This record gives sequence, C-alpha cells and structure tokens, in this order.
Amino acid sequence: MNDFRKIALVTGGSRGLGKNAALALSRKNIDVIVTYHTRNEEAEAVVREIERTGGRAAALQLDAGDTASFGAFESRLADLLREKWGREQFDFLTNNAGFGINAPLASTTEEQFDSLMNVHVKGVLFLTQKLLPRIADNGSVINVSTGLTRFSLEGYGAYAAMKGAVEILTKYMAKEWGGRGIRVNTIAPGAIATDFGGGVTRDNPAARERIGSMIALGRVGEPDDIGGVIASLCTADMGWVNAQRVEASGGMLI
Ligand SMILES: NC(=O)c1ccc[n+]([C@@H]2O[C@H](COP(=O)([O-])OP(=O)(O)OC[C@H]3O[C@@H](n4cnc5c(N)ncnc54)[C@H](OP(=O)(O)O)[C@@H]3O)[C@@H](O)[C@H]2O)c1
Repeated sequence: MNDFRKIALVTGGSRGLGKNAALALSRKNIDVIVTYHTRNEEAEAVVREIERTGGRAAALQLDAGDTASFGAFESRLADLLREKWGREQFDFLTNNAGFGINAPLASTTEEQFDSLMNVHVKGVLFLTQKLLPRIADNGSVINVSTGLTRFSLEGYGAYAAMKGAVEILTKYMAKEWGGRGIRVNTIAPGAIATDFGGGVTRDNPAARERIGSMIALGRVGEPDDIGGVIASLCTADMGWVNAQRVEASGGMLI
C-alpha cells in the first residue's frame, strides 16, 4: 500500500456526476469508495474501471435517505478502510447522492417533499455527522447543490429549497469544523446530461436545445464538466477555498 494515497468517499457514485467525480478523483491519484443505492453492478463497474487504471476503489451500499441505517454504514466503512487500506479514516467526502422531482408547488405532495428532504437535507447532515470522526484532519467535504438555488425554473421549488438548505449547512459545517482543517464547499452544477430528471437533458433533443440556449457557453453540461471540478476541490491547490458555493453551469441564466 502507498501511504500517501488519499481516499475519497463519493455517495451516489454508481452513475452520473458521482461516477464522473470518482473517475476524476482517481486520475488525481486519490482512491475512491463509491456508494450506490440499488445499482450494485454499475458501482462495481466503476470500481473495475478505476482498478484497471492502477487506482484502488471499492463500493458500498447506502440509502442516503435512511438515517437509521447510517450507523451500520459507518461500521461497514470502518471495516473496509481497515481491510483494504489499513486506515481508520478517509480524506474527502462528497455528498452527491440524490434525485430530482419536478412538480409545481401548487401540487407538490408531502410525500414528495419528505422524500427530497430525507435524501438531500437530513441525509447530508446526518451522514456527514456520523462520518465526521472518520474524516481525517485537513480533509474536505463537498456538498452537491444545484444552479436552481440561484435561478428558478418552474417545478423545481421543493427540490431547490432542499439544495438551498444544503448551501447553508455547508457554511456552518465549514465554520464548525475549520479547527480541524476540514474545508467544506458546495458545488452547484447547472443542467447536466445524466439520468437525472428521467434523462431529459441528455435524451430529449428539443430540451437540449432549449436548455443549451440558456447557457452562455451554448450547450448543456456533460458529466465531464463536473467530475473534474469536484476532484480539483480536493487538491492542495484549492486549500484556501472554504465555505464557498462553486457554480459549474457554463454560465446558465446569467
Ligand atoms: N444532472 C443534473 O442536471 C444536476 C444538476 C444539479 C445538481 N444535480 C445533483 O447532482 C447529484 C447527482 O445527480 P446525477 O445527475 O448524477 O443523477 P443520477 O445520474 O440519477 O445518479 C444518481 C445517483 O444517486 C444515487 N441515489 C439516488 N437516490 C439515492 C438514495 N436514496 N440513497 C443513496 N443513493 C441514491 C444513485 O444510486 P443508484 O445508481 O444505485 O440508483 C446514483 O448513484 C444529485 O444530488 C443531484 O441533485 C444534478
């Protein structure tokens, strides 16, 4: 084992932005633990891809909306860290797992609201709280928000409100954990072509055109536009960037 390799944990690393971040972290010689919710096979494929290129990686199951399961998750993570890396801690946590719901506020149900709240707000706070003793001093937390906290598109009110809460939590986490050298930042992607929202930004040509026209750089975002930003935030070059909201949207609705 190389003692100098750092370890990142990326929630929702089986697909989309989390997968892209995992691969980008690995390219920066950071080992990666990805979590998945239901798609074990996709997560294992990410692990194999990282290991094929000389990195170390592993996958763990996590339901980011089930706070009662976080204790057991932390135990499985501790076992994995000891067995695979001979370590008690990891270095970088990216709270990325999540999903969107498009529903006008006039008809958003409590069930929709609660499901968003559980994963995007409660999940982020209480998973990070549970894992905090396992994040090494001078490590980093990155919380994934959305451009929708700066601009508004119809139907995303409840979802964006959750991400707004994440941005506030980010600042307080940075304030409270800075004494250990832990930096906490938000990355706010614009519209990116993934499975998110039923894959509309990726698969619907009219939507791609319409959304692309809202973006200064003239196209929708791709996962490759985001993973490198997350990986960069974990490097020493970004060591003085703390408590910030870093938007990566190509200049959407400016
Ligand atoms: N794509 C965009 O336009 C966009 C823009 C701004 C922000 N975001 C945010 O970026 C993050 C990633 O989105 P994405 O576009 O990469 O979406 P995606 O392609 O649909 O991937 C979602 C990931 O989250 C995991 N996940 C979903 N629900 C979960 C749960 N309850 N517990 C644990 N894991 C769960 C999935 O695991 P499985 O594969 O096992 O299902 C998957 O790995 C989300 O927080 C999203 O809100 C996305």
